[in-house]
Amino acid sequence: MGENEQSGVEEVLIVEGGKPLQGAVRPSGAKNAALPILAAALLADGRSVIENVPDLSDVRLMLAILRELGCRVEHSPDGTVECDVLDASDATSVASYELVSKMRASFCVLGPLLARRGWARVSLPGGCSIGLRPVDLHLKGLEALGAEIHLERGYVEARAPGGRLRGARIYLGGANGSSVLGTEHIMMAAALAEGKSVIECAACEPEIEDLAKYLNAMGATITGAGTPRITVTGVPSLRGARHRVIPDRIEAGTFLIGAAMTGGCITVEEARSEHLPALFDTLRRAGRGLEISEGRGGIRIERDPDAPRPKSFDVTTLPYPGYPTDLQAQAMAYLSVADGIGVITEKVFPDRYQHLAELARMGAKVRKEGNCAIVAGVGELTGAPVRATDLRASAALVLAGLVAKGETHVHHLHHLDRGYERFVEKLAGLGANLRRVPIDEAREVQQIEARTPSAKFKRPAQPAPSRVRPRGGSGI
Ligand code: UD1
Repeated sequence: MGENEQSGVEEVLIVEGGKPLQGAVRPSGAKNAALPILAAALLADGRSVIENVPDLSDVRLMLAILRELGCRVEHSPDGTVECDVLDASDATSVASYELVSKMRASFCVLGPLLARRGWARVSLPGGCSIGLRPVDLHLKGLEALGAEIHLERGYVEARAPGGRLRGARIYLGGANGSSVLGTEHIMMAAALAEGKSVIECAACEPEIEDLAKYLNAMGATITGAGTPRITVTGVPSLRGARHRVIPDRIEAGTFLIGAAMTGGCITVEEARSEHLPALFDTLRRAGRGLEISEGRGGIRIERDPDAPRPKSFDVTTLPYPGYPTDLQAQAMAYLSVADGIGVITEKVFPDRYQHLAELARMGAKVRKEGNCAIVAGVGELTGAPVRATDLRASAALVLAGLVAKGETHVHHLHHLDRGYERFVEKLAGLGANLRRVPIDEAREVQQIEARTPSAKFKRPAQPAPSRVRPRGGSGI
């Protein structure tokens, strides 16, 4: 979040294209690991210390929910969160619509509350800009663990008969594959259930493994996290533990795609190729002057500025280890300026294409067909005022701005602030030319530019009025 937004003034990000990215950058802790780990802190007796937690609006919201649920939480500037559960009564087992509706991941507090306190009421998360996002798999899993569930007035009220959930075999596959938060949610609830649980068709994302590490450090017995079958042997209680959150692979991937688009050479420190196997493969296929490798310092990517434009590719988003849906919008920005035609098939969130119209405003040639987008690379994008439509879309528009001719003004930055910590500072550190300004300042520039004819249609300079009377004229 920029300085102005902290004092309530909306900001716009102005990106000036044309500079290659150069240097080294370190991604923050993974948002998608930190959020469920913070929810899991509710399971503990005693204090948890969680390091490398990014300072993001989504994280601040989760901390506010934990406070509402009877915890004392502190987030220090070095990224460490300390969380103590002080009050585990019914009065503090209600997560309100006001908070939960702002962020879907917060729904995951239901399982830990239920497992630890035997009763909870949590608001349903509601809609989201990337499409319909149901929670049926979460509820199916909790019911399999013996929870009695009642939906009323937009809230889920759940009770564990006899005060404790029971272990069970649970199949968590859904119409669009496995569910990341669903798997994490059930794994947390099963950690305090009586007996053994087996989660089949579990999602395999690295963030799930990270959560399991934290739970095991708390005294849980979980094996198989990171594979489609997770076994959880329930224990009667868990203690607070210390844990360090893994680096954010989606942030790392965003920088890698940015470097592939702008040319130059960057190292993404602490990034791990095993967390991004599909992106690695995709960028290698793009070839042509693009080198990507992994060393002790992280992942290094280099694009020879004299090589021709990198090639297009086809990509299908899938659950891990497939290509992440959270890097789909960034792939579209890349394909917009690559050489050839690329087809994106979105299999995780089939409607996640709101960024398409915004990229088209910058000159991208994109067409949507069902859950596919067909992108014909153009030689050049042009800067334009654009609106971020969701978190990853906002990053894609910034990347597009880095290669566009002229200035791109990205509006609705609250989406970016949900999931990218100090993104502008990090890109500036890599040599990008960008700054956040108050919205009024950006409007002034936009109005002047809108009134200026483009070079193509500029009228020829008018001849100076003649002082000589036309020949033969009356002179009147
Ligand atoms: C998580 C990530 C999000 C990422 C997504 C997919 C977090 C905080 N968020 O979201 O950034 O884009 O994984 O990698 O980790 N589904 C159902 N029923 C359910 C749950 C999900 O049908 O009960 C469907 C969804 O609509 C979607 C698919 O399953 O089509 C995958 O969604 P899911 O993995 O659950 O996404 P999240 O965990 O919410």
